Amino acid sequence: MHLFLLLILQLPAASGQIDPEHCRYALGMEDGRIPDQDLTASSRWYETTGPQYARLNSEDGDGAWCPKGQLEPSDSQFLQIDLRRLTFLTLFGTQGRYARGLGKEFAAAYRLNYSRDGQLWKSWKNRLGKEVRDPNNTYGVFSNDLKPPIIARYVRVIPVTRLSTTVCMRVELYGCPWEDGLLSYSAPEGQLMMSPGNPSVISLNDSTYDGVHEKRLGKLFGGLGQLTDGVTGRDDFLAIRQYNVWQGYDYLGWRNDTPGTQGYVEMEFVFDRLRNFTSMKVHSNNMYSRGVKIFSSVSCWFKPSLSWEPEPVSFSTILDDRNPSARYVTVPLSRRAARSLRCRFYYADVWMMFSEISFQLFSFLQKPSCFLLISSAAAPSPSSSSDKTPILIGCLVTIILLLVIIIFLILWCQCVCKVLEKAVCLTACGGGYAEPDVTQCTPHQSFNNNAPHYAETDIVRLQGVTGSNMYAVPALTVDSLTRKDISAAEFPRHQLIFREKLGEGQFGEVHLCEAEGLPEFLGEGSPLPDRDGRSVLVAVKQLRADATSQARNDFLKEIKIMSRLDDPNIIRLLCVCVSSDPLCMVTEYMENGDLNMFLCQREIESTLTHANNIPSVSLSDLLHMAVQISSGMKYLASLNFVHRDLATRNCLLDRRLTIKIADFGMSRNLYSSDYYRIQGRAVLPIRWMAWESILLGKFTTASDVWAFGVTLWEIFTLCKEQPYSLLSDEQVIENSGEFFRNQGRQIFLYAPPLCPPSLFELMMRCWSRNITDRPTFEGLYQALRPHVNQ
Ligand SMILES: *[C@@H]1O[C@H](CO)[C@@H](O)[C@H](O)[C@H]1NC(C)=O
Ligand SMILES: *[C@@H]1O[C@H](CO)[C@@H](O)[C@H](O)[C@H]1NC(C)=O
Ligand SMILES: *[C@@H]1O[C@H](CO)[C@@H](O)[C@H](O)[C@H]1NC(C)=O
Ligand SMILES: *[C@@H]1O[C@H](CO)[C@@H](O)[C@H](O)[C@H]1NC(C)=O
Repeated sequence: MHLFLLLILQLPAASGQIDPEHCRYALGMEDGRIPDQDLTASSRWYETTGPQYARLNSEDGDGAWCPKGQLEPSDSQFLQIDLRRLTFLTLFGTQGRYARGLGKEFAAAYRLNYSRDGQLWKSWKNRLGKEVRDPNNTYGVFSNDLKPPIIARYVRVIPVTRLSTTVCMRVELYGCPWEDGLLSYSAPEGQLMMSPGNPSVISLNDSTYDGVHEKRLGKLFGGLGQLTDGVTGRDDFLAIRQYNVWQGYDYLGWRNDTPGTQGYVEMEFVFDRLRNFTSMKVHSNNMYSRGVKIFSSVSCWFKPSLSWEPEPVSFSTILDDRNPSARYVTVPLSRRAARSLRCRFYYADVWMMFSEISFQLFSFLQKPSCFLLISSAAAPSPSSSSDKTPILIGCLVTIILLLVIIIFLILWCQCVCKVLEKAVCLTACGGGYAEPDVTQCTPHQSFNNNAPHYAETDIVRLQGVTGSNMYAVPALTVDSLTRKDISAAEFPRHQLIFREKLGEGQFGEVHLCEAEGLPEFLGEGSPLPDRDGRSVLVAVKQLRADATSQARNDFLKEIKIMSRLDDPNIIRLLCVCVSSDPLCMVTEYMENGDLNMFLCQREIESTLTHANNIPSVSLSDLLHMAVQISSGMKYLASLNFVHRDLATRNCLLDRRLTIKIADFGMSRNLYSSDYYRIQGRAVLPIRWMAWESILLGKFTTASDVWAFGVTLWEIFTLCKEQPYSLLSDEQVIENSGEFFRNQGRQIFLYAPPLCPPSLFELMMRCWSRNITDRPTFEGLYQALRPHVNQ
């Protein structure tokens, strides 16, 4: 029991790393936890538009903070927020003045300045070095991810304008406390790696460092940067996590044999006050095949006040030549106290590369009396126990309270998880949410005039045949589906010659086959797939012999639906083999695979990509893709056909880069993280789903429009990131609740840097809360088409 208690007491000291995915709490502008006196501004127009009114979603005063007079392009007006402690900021939300319909002033763009001490101010820049963010809307809340995050106590929001205009702002900050109090680190500058056979630059510099880069000495000092941005590098340091940056981006790396190194890299860490350290965690690469290893040993010196203590803490690591994974190396720091730390990391190989460093503090109990007392109680000594009894009792009571709280939390967690799971199905919503005003929506009908509703039983069927999602059709019994429902012709099975396997799902497989004599079979005038000599390459989706009757039924339904679709931007069903088992459907073969893979492997066209022969796409290619998808969807909408799973992974590209919308489970295994599994039974593409589909099971053409907006977003981020990559599945579901409640707390996808503003506006309209505010596919097609040949 004593041991157990000790463990609990020590638990909080073990944490200390920030996970940016979860560090997204509202910091108190909206709910008032940041008091008025911590809000200041360079000026205000009236008393009623002072800084204390800059609270998100608040209509107090005249509804926002507005600086005095017209804002000129050269002006530098600001709203300043004092967070009272160092904070790790991951998200920034802005809103214009609404004032119950009277106001419409907003800031078309803004900059952020921040300071850790209130003296030295720094400007925030995104990972590509851009300072200005452009939100561009009035009463809708616009959330902008801060990548890199800001670590600061004070934040200034500086509205920016291109023309003389009135601006007003309301804001919210999101993040979590920066517990370890690290103010800055200094280090030698990161280096370039030259690699034979690799044309691009591998730059291991600290590109988000916000201190001084002393180029002459090759040193960084006085700032924080990539080592504290919460992003750990990958096992392969060439693979990057960020979008649109260079190879090696996530790491800060140094080479052993450069002049001036004495076999180690020295770093110094400065903290806000005296801190008592339990350990330091260093996330380090270990790709030994390329000469990178974790450090062999490290020595750290401590400076509690004015001078350095002579005795370092030293630690040798166990080197590892078998596992090339990047890893956290934990260096124990023996609970010594310091305001500054100086550590020497010794090389184990040619290169050393770090992506994160964090410190764990011994801070849970400021006075160690409780801790010591319980230790002594564990081995009681008769002399001292009596006079400490009151403290001991106090301690035990505290511990019991803690236990109760922990048990309560565990129970509560389990409860919340259950609720989350249920939120997906219709039944649970009745309790949690009022009936939303869906009556104003024109009911877009599914294929067979039956507005689909996903009760839990339906969701099971969603999984579809080869792991893909099914189209919206009402439940049909096996008997009601007969050969005459299928208008595609039966192809002689022996004329399909297997070439290779393209993918597989739960109940089937997709093969690449040669179809002998297919042109003759389809007859004159039938548009033919690309020919490869005499035979034609086709994709054959085949149901496994052991598939359930449900899967079989779904497979026939998919055939039935596909055989009625005929559009240049929809995958074409050529023929089927359903007279005997196994059931097959034969479609066009799309040589360039799916759009997600295609874009993910490419960069945006530039002189750099030309010079280095990097596969690339141009902005006009991207626009052309968007137009083609909207055209295909326009066709489906004209048939009142609901797709339900529009996403880049379901758009295929042929040899000439024509896009065809499909819904194959071809490579669904690759994309399993895009789907949310409900109690292990059904999978839903929640990151692409409209709020009403998630909460009410309502799938309509308007929810396809929502998914189209997300698909556009994917295209303009070149599929380098999953939508809402920082939110967990549960948070995505919570976010759809925010869309429903519409109190401005919903998080939107950010504007991709490549995306023209007018296009982002179009995306935002696809994500309107009300179905009637979303554009139609016809409208989207008309809006996108003119962009193409600009
Ligand atoms: C923002 O910071 C930059 C320095 O990075 C400084 O030049 C500028 O004056 C600051 N602006 C405000 C309003 O604090
Ligand atoms: C880091 O290296 C990249 C690629 O060489 C370069 O574009 C960038 O400007 C560098 N950043 C800093 C802060 O030195
Ligand atoms: C740090 O905390 C430990 C554990 O309570 C304590 O023993 C040690 O004296 C502290 N160190 C300093 C220098 O305060
Ligand atoms: C902001 O919106 C206005 C109209 O709503 C538009 O004219 C302007 O181009 C937009 N600016 C940006 C930067 O998106």
